[in-house]
Amino acid sequence: MLIARTLPELRQYLSDLRQDGGIALVPTMGALHEGHIALVKEAQIRAKHVVVSIFVNPRQFGPNEDLDAYPRQVEKDAALLNQNSVSLLWLPTPDVMYPNGFATNISVSGVSEGLCGGARPGHFDGVATVVTKLLLQVQPNVALFGEKDYQQLAVIRRFVTDLNIPVEIQGVPIQRAGDGLALSSRNAYLSAEERAIAPLIYKTLQNTAERIRNGALVDESVASAVDKLEEAGFGPIDYFELRDAENLKILTKYDRPARVLAAAKLGRTRLIDNIAV
Ligand code: PAJ
Repeated sequence: MLIARTLPELRQYLSDLRQDGGIALVPTMGALHEGHIALVKEAQIRAKHVVVSIFVNPRQFGPNEDLDAYPRQVEKDAALLNQNSVSLLWLPTPDVMYPNGFATNISVSGVSEGLCGGARPGHFDGVATVVTKLLLQVQPNVALFGEKDYQQLAVIRRFVTDLNIPVEIQGVPIQRAGDGLALSSRNAYLSAEERAIAPLIYKTLQNTAERIRNGALVDESVASAVDKLEEAGFGPIDYFELRDAENLKILTKYDRPARVLAAAKLGRTRLIDNIAV
């Protein structure tokens, strides 16, 4: 596996790989788990060469968030990617990504409002800015993102369309532990006791989706889900909402393809998850 840490290195390696076949990009912040590897495997079906980036992007963390605490384990990650036949690991440092004088921001309205965009002001500007840069740096044929971050995927699809970025965006279903908890780098923060409670977020999403599908009122289904999570020790609940699956507009009744999305704190860990209705 090739490893690039500077833009000239990246360009040199990419031009060699591109002569040999198509390129798929999997952007990550590292602390890799089977969720990330599922993206790599899906990428391998779509292109000859898979490029993975690891960059803990400071611009998408709020001032009181876990930027410093975010798990960093580049050597372990590199070994795992190498085992999974990744062609190139792109490891930009913050000053490569944001050199002195950097002054550009990509901001997406509509789909980035509410949900995580409401709970984490500026978060999706940070995501959109860094993903735009990664797409321009690597210029892949296809880039893959998980449905675990469903709103992120919608934001990325929006600016890629709006800015005519010539790349195919591919979503990948959520990978879960045996008990249903969505795999996440942040699960490492959970205590044993919290880890035992955590799968309730998915169970509650499943119940809520089923109730709504069977005709229950959206308000009532959501209110009872929030009660259940709070009783179990989750809190605050950032959101628990039914949204249009495409444009993420709020739905008060279920009359089109929809998604229930949730984010809640469990102790100091913020968990997010979502399910199709
Ligand atoms: P990160 O949280 O490291 O996630 C990298 C990619 O893996 C994202 O597309 C995310 O949706 C996907 N992913 C994480 N857990 C998953 C799971 N359990 N099942 C399926 N996919 C999963 O998301 C980011 O990094 C950043 O915001 C990034 C896009 C890299 C921009 O900085």
